[in-house]
Amino acid sequence: MTQLLELAVESAVTAGRFLKQNVGKVKHIDRKLGQETNLVTEIDRKAEGMIIERIRKRYPQHGFLGEEFGEQQTNSDYKWVIDPLDGTTNFTHGLPIFCVSIGLEHKGELVVGVVYDPNLDEVFTAEKGKGAFLNHKRIRVSGTHKLGESLLVTGFPYDIQLKTDTIVAHFENFLKTSQAVRRLGSAALDLCYVAAGRFDGYWENSLNPWDMAAGVLLVQEAGGTVSDFRGFPSTIYQKSVLATNGKIHEQMIGVLSRSSKYESSK
Ligand code: IPD
Ligand code: CA
Ligand code: CA
Repeated sequence: MTQLLELAVESAVTAGRFLKQNVGKVKHIDRKLGQETNLVTEIDRKAEGMIIERIRKRYPQHGFLGEEFGEQQTNSDYKWVIDPLDGTTNFTHGLPIFCVSIGLEHKGELVVGVVYDPNLDEVFTAEKGKGAFLNHKRIRVSGTHKLGESLLVTGFPYDIQLKTDTIVAHFENFLKTSQAVRRLGSAALDLCYVAAGRFDGYWENSLNPWDMAAGVLLVQEAGGTVSDFRGFPSTIYQKSVLATNGKIHEQMIGVLSRSSKYESSK
């Protein structure tokens, strides 16, 4: 493991254990940006603070983009993209599906991704060009070739009221064409589960870079495909993401195109 990956793992595991210790102990829940359902707690903020402090101690010159404290730009080529608690709604309800997600960009390219699930004690790691791992064991995407035999996952954004038609149309179309569709409530885990072959495909509108940074690298390094809804190469700064085992990618694009009139990739 390189030093950067090691540091990302240490930071994610420390923050993840802190999250787990605080299930059921949240004192105050705020709503973000006037969105009634977009929750944030003091635990999200403390966890992000812990991660940034640890990384900054080692690399004071590195930049950060974290969900809670925003962008902290520097002249460095390195930028850490952090979601200290992915699955906040689950967390506040005591539902044990949440994680810490830490990605690292070098000159705008994802080079390290770590997702830690403290409930199952699962550490997902990837480094550019070196494969994807779950608790040190190599993982690969599934071999499913048929959409009809695929287990899919999706998520619903906090601003769903603004685009309910799009989201429901996609959801309905996949319910009719796949084996089954799940909704876990953690985009980072959704992506890691595609990387590990637990899901065959994942799509979601309206994500943020911190939701995806680590998970996108995991999927790519596990042999999967990541694109926008039309199949064009995407970045973590675009809102919509389609991540699959590669074999069902075209079939999923076909289904997404049925409601393309609603679609915007930005
Ligand atoms: C959310 C989760 C959820 C996804 C939302 C995200 P948060 O992140 O990843 O699964 O559907 O779009 O915003 O708020 O729990 O960090
Ligand atoms: Ca998130
Ligand atoms: Ca979060």
